[in-house]
Amino acid sequence: MPLPADHRADDAQQARPTRPAAPAAPAGLPDARDPRGLRSDAPLLDAWLRFTAQAQAGALTPMSVPGHKQRQDLTGAVVAGDAPMYTGLGTLKHGGAVLADAEKRAARLWGADWCRFSVAGSTHGNQALALAVGSPGQEVVIARSLHRSMLLGLVLAGLRPVWVLPERDVASGLPAAVPVDSVRTALASHPQACAVFLGDPSYVGTISDLAGHARAAHEAGVPLVVDAAWAAHLGFHPDLPPHAIAAGADAMVTSAHKALPAFTQGALVLARTGLLDPARLDRAFEATNTTSPAGAIVASIDAARALLARDGVALCGRLLRLVADARQRLAQVPGLGVLDGPGVEPTKLVVLLAGTGAHGHSIEADLIAAGMPVEMAEPDTIIPVITLADDEATVARFTGTLIAAIERHRGAPRRPVPSPAWTVTPQMALAPREAFFAPGETVCADDAVGRISAELVAPYPPGVPVLAPGEIITAEALAALRLTHADGGRIAYAADPGLATLQVVATPA
Ligand SMILES: Cc1ncc(COP(=O)(O)O)c(C=O)c1O
Repeated sequence: MPLPADHRADDAQQARPTRPAAPAAPAGLPDARDPRGLRSDAPLLDAWLRFTAQAQAGALTPMSVPGHKQRQDLTGAVVAGDAPMYTGLGTLKHGGAVLADAEKRAARLWGADWCRFSVAGSTHGNQALALAVGSPGQEVVIARSLHRSMLLGLVLAGLRPVWVLPERDVASGLPAAVPVDSVRTALASHPQACAVFLGDPSYVGTISDLAGHARAAHEAGVPLVVDAAWAAHLGFHPDLPPHAIAAGADAMVTSAHKALPAFTQGALVLARTGLLDPARLDRAFEATNTTSPAGAIVASIDAARALLARDGVALCGRLLRLVADARQRLAQVPGLGVLDGPGVEPTKLVVLLAGTGAHGHSIEADLIAAGMPVEMAEPDTIIPVITLADDEATVARFTGTLIAAIERHRGAPRRPVPSPAWTVTPQMALAPREAFFAPGETVCADDAVGRISAELVAPYPPGVPVLAPGEIITAEALAALRLTHADGGRIAYAADPGLATLQVVATPA
């Protein structure tokens, strides 16, 4: 449920006077700062447009943060467009009302009862939901293909994972659906579990039977929570799968900045409040929320929501065509593969290189040189992100450049070697929170085999932990991480990213 108007004004300072309306665009002309005319259905966007117009006109002398005071002669253009949510888009005392209005509109669009806009990505959303579902020591049934943010959510909330594993696509080694039966079995053998957490679509766009998972969770009397970080566009075209809430999930997190044209870090947390308590959801969300949300971020989430509501079908329709055409074009290149079929989110483009002999890092370097950084480049897999903001020209340029790079780096076809992120079989010795807070020590990585990891180590992307706090470090996991590192992959979050040493739980004296 939306919060009361002044709920989020946490400092009792003087409210600023209401500002006069910013000058409107001359009659008949579109406002260049709102080219699609979204502001009439987007209260935060409207407030941002007003505030920044006033700042630009020199009509403000703010005696509040941010410290740049809307001047660009100190740190320069880097602060352009920055506007605080409170004392900017709204007053400190009443800014919560305009934010709540925007969040309520998003809740309505996704068919949820509760929604909050996050300025700290799906990372914050996942952790908020971990804090919302149970109490320390309780179990959750959770997919091991989860993003590291959710694993750290377990640490924060003290939840104990009961892992379920996705199936694997035989040809590529990439993760496929999480079988509903695995979740049912886990729930049956852990009747005290308080929730089911899944990531869907997976990082590589594979999708599970969310409606089946929702039924399984609900039959066990627990909520289904879905990390849908990549899926803010799902459900907005008849040829797209439904979004998680429509499929029956009780809560979903999605990054507006990933699939939608929103500011970096913008994310939505959406929930139905049958099995989840709205007051608890609010407490959990606020626990790690900033007190100074960036107005530009929340306004861009609001604008993206208004855009989806009005033009979503047309924009998603174009996106579906673009990706279908790109898949078709790439599939004609000898040796090149693309993930496709009913188990794959139709707007995700996952390029499989092994049959061409080209190495993903060489292809990535060529793409970067051509001004086209991609979301993920592993030796065997390239994942560009194609969104509502792309068109025929950008996608054709990408596929053309990609094909040329593949031809430059072509070699002998090889068998794909899946990232260790997709081959983890966890052996949990301690709950993640216990291991995180236990006394630790740094040991030579070879000596760490058989010990309990105190740290989280993940190739990034995809950010799926290979070593998680509380898990036994196996020789296979270490060898696979070393291979990734030696092959030029980034090993993230490890205290020693070169993997000469690892942090383990100290052995009691
Ligand atoms: C599956 C998944 N969940 C959550 C996140 C975190 O999202 P954000 O970067 O918006 O915090 C990511 C990031 O890539 C992700 O892939």
